[in-house]
Amino acid sequence: MSSNQDGFDSLARQDYNIKISLKLIFMNIIIINSYRELSEKAANIFLNQLALKPNSVFGLATGSTPLGMYAEIVKRAREYTYDFARVITFNLDEYIGLDDNHSQSYRYFMQQNFFTQVNIRPKNIFIPAGKTKNLTKYCAWYERHINQNPIDLQILGIGQNGHIGFNEPGSALDSITRAVNLSPSTIEANARFFNNQSEAPRQAVTVGVSTILKAKKIVMLASGRNKSKAVRQMIEGKLNANCPASWLQLHPDATVVLDKAAASLLKNKTISSVKNGGSEIQILNERVTPRGKRILVVSPHHDDSAVSSGATLAALAANNKITIAVMSAGFHAAIDALSRAQKIKTREREALAESRILNSKIIFNYRQFYEHGQKFWRQDLRQLDKLWRRVKPDIIILPERRDEHPTHALSAALVLDYLKQAKIKNIELWFYEGLWSQHFLENINLIFGFDKKLLALKNKAIGAHRSQTARLPLIGASQALAQFRALTLPEQRFVTFGARPPRLADFVEAYYREKL
Ligand code: F6R
Repeated sequence: MSSNQDGFDSLARQDYNIKISLKLIFMNIIIINSYRELSEKAANIFLNQLALKPNSVFGLATGSTPLGMYAEIVKRAREYTYDFARVITFNLDEYIGLDDNHSQSYRYFMQQNFFTQVNIRPKNIFIPAGKTKNLTKYCAWYERHINQNPIDLQILGIGQNGHIGFNEPGSALDSITRAVNLSPSTIEANARFFNNQSEAPRQAVTVGVSTILKAKKIVMLASGRNKSKAVRQMIEGKLNANCPASWLQLHPDATVVLDKAAASLLKNKTISSVKNGGSEIQILNERVTPRGKRILVVSPHHDDSAVSSGATLAALAANNKITIAVMSAGFHAAIDALSRAQKIKTREREALAESRILNSKIIFNYRQFYEHGQKFWRQDLRQLDKLWRRVKPDIIILPERRDEHPTHALSAALVLDYLKQAKIKNIELWFYEGLWSQHFLENINLIFGFDKKLLALKNKAIGAHRSQTARLPLIGASQALAQFRALTLPEQRFVTFGARPPRLADFVEAYYREKL
């Protein structure tokens, strides 16, 4: 066979593969190790939606599966400034016949596990009523209300019989909100929560399959071996009313998050787990920042804090205490016609101006490695202890150890060596990127998105380092990097095949976060 023919042959084979796996590619399948990771991932997707759109409409599920997700959302809502004031929620379903405050009603579940723990407004919460005089009229009202407030993100679980919401086997693609009889297997599965089987409700109100499919984005969670059969039918089975979850194959932006046990019967695990299987990116912006933290910024030179994370720092300063530690005296940088002492003075004046703009404190923490190589490493390490006691940081923002600029790499190494030696735990490290060294795309797991207004402030902070902007295009270059990240990250890290990339922000500062 000629090489030409060979090439053609493999192309044809590829084409064929694409055709038979198209259905799989539509659903973004994420398989992860544990229920905890599944919950963290789901919470992150939920909170990113909120960060990008404060008035998001969420479709919510109850049951044991999303419990971990709600707990994680609540935890993060305490640590960060997520605001639920404009959020609207629609729950999928409710048992017929139970009072709102019955301990097994879905309303009670939602109140206990979520709504009372965040600042959502009661008037924005919709859960089907389990007791109502005119069910038909009520269901039509619920359906209409969802249609008027289209759901941005729908969270789903799956029943062992393949149900979604309470759309039991047999539920049609065009079904809408209605009262349904629960199947014997569902009654049995749920009986564990009631005193005896006869107390377990036999009917429910549920939104329909078509109602669910109207959501812009769907995230389905499944955990445990007892879901593996239904999961296989949902993903690899035929589109079929007998497994209502299989209708999700028709949705252009459905993500299925599975733990290994739930994924165990899938034939095609490799194709399905490729996309976004790694670390999830958390999106921060001016509205969503950590709160109440002490933050130490390691700035190898006087201007690195502003160049690498100026926008992040400006926003973080509103809710946190920021200290910037400059690690080198910075006299190597060419500044014409000045003595060494004058250069240092000039750079310090500029750094002080920056810290006023960014609303943070600055410490000149010059380390000897800058002057003498690593000769004084031990001494430098010992002195870091003083800085540590002074700042007692919860978060350190610093360059990477593999940063290509030697002063940056040594600054990072010094701090990391100190943390190791002092056995410091329970802190977060946010590694920034800069003009001399950028992150590998797959390592980025935290981003700060910002707009023109914050860009102007960042540029002002960089501009304070006049001795440096006079010799280097720092403002233009850092803006270009921030724009490049804003442009490329959405498509490369957030997009499911066929889905529209989320609009993150005009500018992005990107980090790699590690927890110690
Ligand atoms: C709950 C719901 C149901 C559950 C499903 C799985 O609002 O609509 O479809 O998602 O029954 O329940 P768990 O998670 O308890 O296994």
